Amino acid sequence: MTHQDGFETLAIHAGQEPDPLTGAVVPPIYQVSTYKQDGVGGLRGGYEYSRSANPTRTALEQCLAALEGAPRGLAFASGMAAEDCLIRTVCSPGDHVLIPDDAYGGTYRLFARVLTGWGLDYGVVPVFDVAAVRERLAARKTAVVWVETPTNPLLNIADIRALAQAAHEAGALLVVDNTFASPYLQQPLGLGADVVVHSTTKYLGGHSDVVGGALVTADGELADRLAFTQNATGGVAGPFDSWLTLRGIRTLAARMDRHCRNAMRVAQMLAEHPAVAEVLYPGLPSHPGHKTAQEQMRAFGGMVSFRLLAGEEAAVRACGRTRLFTLGESLGGVESLIEHPGRMTHASVTGSALEVPGDLIRLSVGIEDCDDLLDDLRQALAG
Ligand SMILES: Cc1ncc(COP(=O)(O)O)c(C=O)c1O
Repeated sequence: MTHQDGFETLAIHAGQEPDPLTGAVVPPIYQVSTYKQDGVGGLRGGYEYSRSANPTRTALEQCLAALEGAPRGLAFASGMAAEDCLIRTVCSPGDHVLIPDDAYGGTYRLFARVLTGWGLDYGVVPVFDVAAVRERLAARKTAVVWVETPTNPLLNIADIRALAQAAHEAGALLVVDNTFASPYLQQPLGLGADVVVHSTTKYLGGHSDVVGGALVTADGELADRLAFTQNATGGVAGPFDSWLTLRGIRTLAARMDRHCRNAMRVAQMLAEHPAVAEVLYPGLPSHPGHKTAQEQMRAFGGMVSFRLLAGEEAAVRACGRTRLFTLGESLGGVESLIEHPGRMTHASVTGSALEVPGDLIRLSVGIEDCDDLLDDLRQALAG
């Protein structure tokens, strides 16, 4: 398979040649920890122990790399395991990193509660404001600029190309968490980012049945260093999880098209709704990042956040009144989810610079019949 193939083709074929032994069209689940050697050091295909490499994981890693347009990808047990591996590879104790003022709460917790103990220092910056990022880079030597776009949960848009330039001029790496967009909608390495992070738990897996993470980079030397840490610290994706993720990836493009269509209709309905104070969706022309999103994304994604005029308690009550939108954390599965970030996914940022508004509701818009989804939201807001 070559990188000239289209995205949908790569999603179905990259890393997934029919099994040479049986012709099985889907990579088998190599549920195995160790491999027979043909004499000491005589490895078959490079496999010796499944923490270091496993054929089902290799298939997933090759596919992830192809989808991000890079030679190497690494698959982890979770998005957080991927993030931890990345930072402890590219940073040393004493280094300074910049993180977004709007990001997944668990990412903030990793920096604020775990990596600071290891000696890392971090600053918080609005990553949609390139001038602010440049100012902070000029003020202090920084090893990494960490960006989400769209951000979780406020759906801000960061200009990847401009931030890559700013980071590189200051001698920093640009890391992009591409979880919300997925590689189908946005390919940060092509815009200048150094490393892409994924929680594959979300759109890549796509069915709310597996937790996983990924790192992808175009830099071969960095990929070797990341693979070394991955093996040394061991947060790898298991064979069955790799297989499930790969199964999800095959339909990523078709699912994302539908997620985006449904989310746009949901955002438009909410924007007209009298109970809604503000809709945060980069697909709406009123969104401050709309133009940048149009330039760097194929479409605007399946996540929609909105604020209620009636405040926090009304938001909490509305989250409990939906019939089809399931009240739950996570996102990116085929089924629609609703949550209250302040008390759920982002409880860990309460009292920090990343605190989210109490009247905020976040939707992961699924691929159900959109009329049913709109009716469900209308009845929950009327309730
Ligand atoms: C944007 C983003 N990055 C990273 C993560 C962490 O991934 P995981 O839950 O797979 O560890 C999440 C989880 O919600 C997320 O939303």
